Amino acid sequence: MVLLLTTLKHTRNPAVHLCRRCCSSPRSSGGLPALRDEVLVGSSLELVRTVGSQVEVRPGFITEEEEAVLLQELEPGLRKKRYEFDHWDDAIHGYRETERLRWAPPCEEILNRVRSVAFPRSASLLGPVHVLDLDKAGYIKPHVDSVKFCGSTIAGLSLLSDSIMRLVKENEPNEWLDLLLTRRSLYILRDQARYDFTHEILKDEDSVFKGQKVPRQRRISVICRNLPG
Ligand code: OGA
Ligand code: MN
Repeated sequence: MVLLLTTLKHTRNPAVHLCRRCCSSPRSSGGLPALRDEVLVGSSLELVRTVGSQVEVRPGFITEEEEAVLLQELEPGLRKKRYEFDHWDDAIHGYRETERLRWAPPCEEILNRVRSVAFPRSASLLGPVHVLDLDKAGYIKPHVDSVKFCGSTIAGLSLLSDSIMRLVKENEPNEWLDLLLTRRSLYILRDQARYDFTHEILKDEDSVFKGQKVPRQRRISVICRNLPG
């Protein structure tokens, strides 16, 4: 996956604003309803309301069994690769990755559920699904996904670990949102949240949400994207 890395310095505004709307409805798939402020905080209420509406986090989108099914499919291929640590100019540190076009039927079923909530039926999706395996010491630096290769929407499942995804407005380092991506959650970034904000996955030592440490373990993400319009 080709990434367009934008490095940003963070001067963070200490004021944290929460939004108290409900961010997901109960689903038969096991997702519990979660208050938005349990998964999304930002530098201002305004930002949480505006850009926050282009961000979705659905805790418990997949079950433990579904997570195991995905891991079973992915682990053999991933184990053959080594984690990459030493490319100083990479957007990602401590990772191995793969792309997968064909999945076993139970995995395909899970992915179809992701696609059906994240994309309109008519959307043209990037064929292969991107799989990114971050080592416990790995992290993703602030970047915007290449507009040449990816469209307006990014939808990712998080396996094996909780993590914090931070969005920072380009050239406005005081405007930010932090998303708590719990293990087995689905996140969706759309439009402005995808184009005008960098996103990153914090390293373990920075992984704090509303004052609470969120330990980062090895984390695998399974990411669906659409094609540029
Ligand atoms: C990426 C990326 C986020 C994730 O690969 O471009 O931002 O959830 N990944 O792993
Ligand atoms: Mn990205």
